[in-house]
Amino acid sequence: MDAVALRALLTWYAEMGIDDITGEVPSDFSEWTGPAKKMPQVPQPAQQAPRAASPQPKPAPAPIIPGDAPVPADEAIAAAKAAAAAATDIESLREAIMAFDGCPLKPGARNTVIDDGIAGAPLMLLGEAPGRDEDRIGKPFVGRAGQLLDRMLAAIGHSRQEGELAPAYISNAIFWRPPGNRAPTKAEIAICFPFVERLIELNAPKVIITLGNTPTQTLFEDAPGITRSRGTWRDHATAGGAVIPVLPTFHPAFLLRQPAQKRLAWADLIEIRKRLQS
Ligand code: URA
Repeated sequence: MDAVALRALLTWYAEMGIDDITGEVPSDFSEWTGPAKKMPQVPQPAQQAPRAASPQPKPAPAPIIPGDAPVPADEAIAAAKAAAAAATDIESLREAIMAFDGCPLKPGARNTVIDDGIAGAPLMLLGEAPGRDEDRIGKPFVGRAGQLLDRMLAAIGHSRQEGELAPAYISNAIFWRPPGNRAPTKAEIAICFPFVERLIELNAPKVIITLGNTPTQTLFEDAPGITRSRGTWRDHATAGGAVIPVLPTFHPAFLLRQPAQKRLAWADLIEIRKRLQS
């Protein structure tokens, strides 16, 4: 294949959301016939002398197909609820999330990305889902959006690192990277939700910030889009009966694309600082 054709192929892959290599060795998918439908067979010449010396190609490994739900969503949600309820502290909850196989995103992800920062902090932030950098490293918000988030936190005297600043704790509505960074589906969000809810209960923060639409609508189904919901406090009542004030604001990745909106995000941060100091 020449360089122009190769570039066109890679561009097409990227546009289709295939922007990552998931295996250490390349697979020969020309031999793969798919899980359900067989590829049409190319007719072979009737008699061909076997070529003694040529090695047989190794059968291609069955590829992982993100989106193939290992368990139906209802069963997965029930299993997530049971596993989350059984966790009595953050550490056992992390273990339960790591061991959970009910989310169809898991087989396509490199890492389970759960949380970062200081458990039990009065300020908890909830993002959407791990991106490429987070999937590679195994921690939420480590890419450019994460660096902006750290600066936003520092501006109100908080940090996810131990140190002089007041503590913050960060998680996401989803623990596995959606392929090509697509938005998570309703089913994926619902499957992860019992764990998110338990993370909230066990951390018992004074205030939660939701970053963008996905985590906001994960906690409040009726919330309008983030442009309308940001800056207005809502109360989230957990299954265990705790009521926690939540302020939706813009996602830092959006602020990187729309820097003019930082003014509104700054107003939200000031609100949060006031509430934390009250
Ligand atoms: N965006 C998110 O919402 N979460 C991350 O962890 C990284 C980017």
